[in-house]
Amino acid sequence: MTLQLGDEAPDFTAETTEGTIHFHEWLGKDWGVLFSHPKDFTPVCTTELGRVAALKPEFTKRHTKVIGLSVDPLGSHKEWSKDIQDVTGNAPNFPLIADGDKKVANTYGMIHPNANDTLTVRSVFVIGPDKKIKLTLTYPASTGRNFDELLRVIDSLQLTANHKVATPSDWKQGQDVIIVNSVNDDDAKKMFGGFKTVKPYLRTVPQPK
Ligand code: BEZ
Repeated sequence: MTLQLGDEAPDFTAETTEGTIHFHEWLGKDWGVLFSHPKDFTPVCTTELGRVAALKPEFTKRHTKVIGLSVDPLGSHKEWSKDIQDVTGNAPNFPLIADGDKKVANTYGMIHPNANDTLTVRSVFVIGPDKKIKLTLTYPASTGRNFDELLRVIDSLQLTANHKVATPSDWKQGQDVIIVNSVNDDDAKKMFGGFKTVKPYLRTVPQPK
């Protein structure tokens, strides 16, 4: 069955480049990003993993742990890391799961047989501190992901988890946000000290701290 937003992220134990990981225990109280790539020693994947490694401080700033996955063995992940360092200047500084038996990939629906019946597609799961799935993304092998966008979404998820707001199209940290419609005008005044009414159903405020 397809995992959907709000579902609990299935727990698992897996062998990774940083040792055996029990997923929920490893996540602890942090947010998590579990993402798959199709295959080691391939061009798009090389650029992606280098980019995630470069952005590690940004994920850490957001109390977010990152873990990658493919069906390749540990030895391959470790050997490939040297190429990722050569090509991008950053070797993976986060664990990579060796999911040879496809246990995690099948649980998370990372294999899309009509695209490729043996390799994982480019899946992303963002998991909250409550272990619930907050975001899913699926990209094909031919298209590298935009990890700045992933950070932007995490900013929105973390903001909207703590305040009764939503974020508009293309929102970035520091920009105005939208008051959710379940908050009436009186409560919105108390909550935010004032707001701008663009339409009765579209009220904006500066981003809460
Ligand atoms: C790549 O990362 O470039 C790639 C991986 C698997 C299939 C096609 C492309």
